[in-house]
Amino acid sequence: MNSFPPPDDTAWTKWQSAWSLRPDTVYLNHGSFGPPPDVVRAARRRWIDRLDEQPMEYFIRDYEDLLRDAREKLAGFVGAGEGNLIFVEHATMAMNILAGSFPLGTGDEVLLTDHEYGAVDRIWDRACEQVGARRITATLPARFTSSEEVVEAIFRKVTDRTRLIVVSHVTSPTAIILPVEPICRRARQQNVRVCIDGPHAVAMLPLDLTALDCDYFTASCHKWLCAPFGSGFFYVHPRVQQEIKPLAISWGRSPPLPLDHWGDEFIWTGTRDQSALLTIPTAIDFLRGVPFDAFRARYRYLIRYAREQVTELTGLAPYVGVDMDNGDMDDGAKWCGSMIALPLSPGEARPLQQALWLRYRIEIPVIDWHGGRHVRVSCHLYNTTQQIDRLVDALRELLRQNL
Ligand SMILES: Cc1ncc(COP(=O)(O)O)c(C=O)c1O
Repeated sequence: MNSFPPPDDTAWTKWQSAWSLRPDTVYLNHGSFGPPPDVVRAARRRWIDRLDEQPMEYFIRDYEDLLRDAREKLAGFVGAGEGNLIFVEHATMAMNILAGSFPLGTGDEVLLTDHEYGAVDRIWDRACEQVGARRITATLPARFTSSEEVVEAIFRKVTDRTRLIVVSHVTSPTAIILPVEPICRRARQQNVRVCIDGPHAVAMLPLDLTALDCDYFTASCHKWLCAPFGSGFFYVHPRVQQEIKPLAISWGRSPPLPLDHWGDEFIWTGTRDQSALLTIPTAIDFLRGVPFDAFRARYRYLIRYAREQVTELTGLAPYVGVDMDNGDMDDGAKWCGSMIALPLSPGEARPLQQALWLRYRIEIPVIDWHGGRHVRVSCHLYNTTQQIDRLVDALRELLRQNL
């Protein structure tokens, strides 16, 4: 029997209608590509219009101040402190800037976990290859029950050649919140730098980057914060800022203004539309208006509901979630935020994902992972328990057909 209380979506109708999503689609993949709500789309259009209607006014007289204001608001939101954060298009760009700037030499080691995002693996594989450094992989525990075990699995692989640890705040393939605080603390003690790959953490979790004391934090705001696509940031701790250089040299600041801060190099990176970045404050205000605590309580409810329903169907335990049974949502949130990866019976991932879309109009990733497959459920404010019921019904049918 299902132990979960009956669904109550009615209180959330107001927020569901804040998005204009295609009515033919059940969208359970905010984690890959989070659609912006209408208020964010409208704000972005206004920025584009303002640029297109008077480019000189926008670029020459307004641009730097506008960008600085948006950056300050974001810095306050993630606890970055003043001057420690630059705008980039996305987390991928931030990670590439780091790989292009990091003082890596022959024989050095860069340590990643086996849960990292595939493109991040590629960035560091290439950076290591170019200078004769080694990329090392730490295998994390099969079940996530203790932070100490996770930290131990990583630091077991640290040697006196380890220069950098790259670790997700929330993993992409498995949707697990990793214990980044103790990882950063121990890395500082051992004099190893840490880059947190953080696109899923922004808005999913409260952030205080200054307190976290990581060296680098890379992020995309077009995921859980619901800012427009093409908005991200790169946080760099003051102790290592001077090493960071842009991948493409342009003016930096508009000439004749001098470059006297590491972030100045990234203000003017060539003429382009910056509307996505300037819209970030609107996205912050939108989620603050929910407010954030309510947003987080809501996604926990939905994720827990999804976990109940899918595990009842499959009989397979998720990688995380035992803590969620004790009723203490804060404790449950330790490993799992607004996404959860739920294992499925053996089979191919792609045909199942395709069938979920083509036959049931459900957009959700089915992921091959370490020889098995799972479905990764994402829940934002526009999702409902009925949508999860539809997913479970569809899975029941398709798995019965051995898909
Ligand atoms: C953990 C992680 N890192 C990096 C990225 C790359 O993000 P973007 O494509 O926005 O640069 C993603 C995207 O899903 C991700 O999940």
